[in-house]
Amino acid sequence: MRSHTLAVLPGDGVGPEVTRAALTVLDAAESRFGFDTRRTDVPLGADHHLATGELLTDEATAELDRHDAILFGAIGSPRVPPGILERGIILELRRRMEQAINLRPVRLYEGVPTPIAGLTPERCDLVVVRENTEGAYVAQGSSVHVGTPAQVAVQESVNTWYAVERAVDFAYRLASVRRGRLTLCHKTNVLVEAGKLWTAVMESVGERYPDVETDYVHVDALCMHLPVSPERFDVVVTDNLFGDIVTDLGAVLQGGLGVAASGNLNLDGAHPSMFEPIHGSAPDIAGRGWANPAGACLSLAMLLGHLGEGEAAAAVEAATAAVLAGLPAPGGEAMGASTQELCERIAAAVADDATPEVPGSLMAQLAAVAAGRAAEG
Ligand code: IPM
Ligand code: MG
Repeated sequence: MRSHTLAVLPGDGVGPEVTRAALTVLDAAESRFGFDTRRTDVPLGADHHLATGELLTDEATAELDRHDAILFGAIGSPRVPPGILERGIILELRRRMEQAINLRPVRLYEGVPTPIAGLTPERCDLVVVRENTEGAYVAQGSSVHVGTPAQVAVQESVNTWYAVERAVDFAYRLASVRRGRLTLCHKTNVLVEAGKLWTAVMESVGERYPDVETDYVHVDALCMHLPVSPERFDVVVTDNLFGDIVTDLGAVLQGGLGVAASGNLNLDGAHPSMFEPIHGSAPDIAGRGWANPAGACLSLAMLLGHLGEGEAAAAVEAATAAVLAGLPAPGGEAMGASTQELCERIAAAVADDATPEVPGSLMAQLAAVAAGRAAEG
């Protein structure tokens, strides 16, 4: 039987609720598709930090590193000053595990309400490939004259050919198994030096993918196009900070943060990839069992696709979409069912081979991209 090792990092707030519930869905996928996962719980987050003062320890890193993939809940708590846990755990993991890209689908599923008037599912199916290790996220910079009116802050953005090329190459590969369109999103009119590098990488890597059509959009213009004409985009590749910002907007299009999924992908297999819902720890609703588990379940579907379990990935995506379509509200008590109950419904839909497929499943495309990379060695 195919077997995968999974580190489960539930974290803070609603993280444990959605992660545990998503594991019910994983159980259903394993029984239907004939594979199994060996799971290890890794406790990191606010409780662990408050009890020990630790963030991401070398031991936890080594433990996570022994697994094929990481299923991540959320990190962040009002009991710890903002940013400490996020930088010390999430960003540190992305760096240490060389999770080169953050893959964020923006897909409106049938029957899911969107705040964008007139938007239909056929018009909203794109993927953002966010460079995940550098740009403004390198934590480089300095301050002088702090606390005086002469205070100066320098915050650097680093762009290396190496990291940009691996992100752009993945984006081309993904575009070539999708609708064959890749858009570079940047701000080349102002960030001239970084813009030159990104543009040159796009051209150079593009020589290997002659069938992919490319274009370019400034990040501010992307924010204008995204709500009114998302159908312009198939795969969008962008810098770390731009990707962070535009994918929150993307989440709104597809029905809110509760629905949005992401995968932090390590592309050379040297370390595990990590899959996380975008919604974060949501301390305001934590502990009530009202968090929408769709983001966690769709992240699980991406995890399965990345591990090469394409059929299971597509089934989890389809089951999540089917259950989402019947929800009276995107989150909170008004959903009419608890996080766990919803995952039981999703699990039942995974087990049922009559659940309608989602056409052009990104999760299945991920499995195709992973297989292509493996074949090249
Ligand atoms: C995200 C989050 C993180 C980021 C924070 C929590 C550090 O906003 O995953 O989009 O900026 O990448
Ligand atoms: Mg963000």
